[in-house]
Amino acid sequence: MKKKILVSTLLIACMSLSAQKSATVKIYPEQGKQIIPKEIYGQFAEHLGSCIYGGLWVGEKSDIPNTQGYRTDVLNALKELKVPVLRWPGGCFADEYHWTDGIGPKENRPKMVNNNWGGTIEDNSFGTHEFLNLCELIGCEPYISGNVGSGSVEELAKWVEYMTSDGDSPMANLRRKNGRDKAWKVKFLGVGNESWGCGGSMRPEYYADLYRRYSTYCRNYDDNHLYKIASGASDYDFNWTETLMKNIGARMNGLSLHYYTVTGWNGSKGSATKFSKDDYYWTMGKCLEIEDVIKKHINIMDKYDPKKNVGLLVDEWGTWWDEEPGTTRGHLYQQNSMRDAFVASLTLDVFHKYTDRIQMANIAQIVNVLQSMILTKGKEMVLTPTYYVFDMYKVHQNATYLPLDLICDKVNVRDNRTVPLVSATASKDKEGVIHVSLSNVDADNTEDISIDISQFKISGVSGQILTSTDITDYNSFERPNVVNLKDFKGAKVSKGLLKVELPAKSIVTLTIK
Ligand code: AHR
Repeated sequence: MKKKILVSTLLIACMSLSAQKSATVKIYPEQGKQIIPKEIYGQFAEHLGSCIYGGLWVGEKSDIPNTQGYRTDVLNALKELKVPVLRWPGGCFADEYHWTDGIGPKENRPKMVNNNWGGTIEDNSFGTHEFLNLCELIGCEPYISGNVGSGSVEELAKWVEYMTSDGDSPMANLRRKNGRDKAWKVKFLGVGNESWGCGGSMRPEYYADLYRRYSTYCRNYDDNHLYKIASGASDYDFNWTETLMKNIGARMNGLSLHYYTVTGWNGSKGSATKFSKDDYYWTMGKCLEIEDVIKKHINIMDKYDPKKNVGLLVDEWGTWWDEEPGTTRGHLYQQNSMRDAFVASLTLDVFHKYTDRIQMANIAQIVNVLQSMILTKGKEMVLTPTYYVFDMYKVHQNATYLPLDLICDKVNVRDNRTVPLVSATASKDKEGVIHVSLSNVDADNTEDISIDISQFKISGVSGQILTSTDITDYNSFERPNVVNLKDFKGAKVSKGLLKVELPAKSIVTLTIK
């Protein structure tokens, strides 16, 4: 059954039943105050499966075309995406990682077992230098996730010194000996990851004390200023957030939150590509539940930090399906369909609304793991539908968020979830250009959308669209261009309204000048 609802940043209300496939949007340009931090478009790269080895890094001697050991095709695709920040080396891997194993001559680097992810042997050939140099090549900020679970205070303190000190200090000199004279700039530092689970199975009170101790010795060297991030809650663990806000407070710059669109943590999570329409709508509902989760964590943070000095960082999010048949267990390699593209657009639309608190988000993960941007196989590379959403949405990075009201149909799905069939977000960039992104979640019907533009002076509208024949469509190595961006011609200005004919299962970004 479909109902008409008003989905709004200003108000949310249910309207009368209707079978009409139309929606209206009203944008409030004069209410735009908040900048959408570019870091909301952050990425995450863990030593997990073929994310690093084979995905990002092949080494200088590889016959796969590379730039100083990094895959050239992947590098170019990531530059195009304007990746603002990259989190590394985990994830769960981070709390077993000892950074000194990943520096110096490669032949001397010890191996380790990657216990979290399939017991794969890690040879440490990709370490601190390789990661920070990658960030320089892509042009993004590094986000280092430090080891609190199995590492020492001294180890983390020295890592910070190694990366960021330019003085005549022991760690800076070791870095110089290893070929890097000038310190890197490292702003974002995670003090542990999932410390309630793979990062040490701690209670929040104990972790809060550890955070205070570890972070004390992570110094600001020269003109490098750390933004220290506490390991935050997962999903509905509000007690974790409450305890950390109470016991750490302003000692942290940011507090993380993890939320995956997943059917459950036990048993099958479902195929990435074989699913029913019912599964698809259920996924949209689960994905949109992130808004409620975010709001509740923000309410707790507001209680202790009404001035919003501590940022909320959703530093892991995205879909989590069964691993692709025939791939290595524990490597979390999954395909990526139009359904994943909608999870990306709907989630980014939610993040845009809470940027007075949310300062960063990192989709998991960048290449070959979970909801990735890119899949690789030997020399081949494909861009996923999720990549194209990030590509289309990059115009919102650092733009001013414009609040809007949206009245649209909704659908009831299993588990008592209700899913609005349209999602929308808008922003205004530094040149005054307005971008509106619209997602028509409806798998079958076109939505006629009327956008009130009476307050804008418009000289032209252009757009891009991501759609496909089926919501299960994806890009494979055999058929890499099934889902791709195309020019969108379905928007017309008429009598103070922008009329948009949004095809079923499509995502559009309009540029309004
Ligand atoms: O992204 C995969 C894993 O999910 C991360 O390593 C961990 O932090 C989370 O549980």
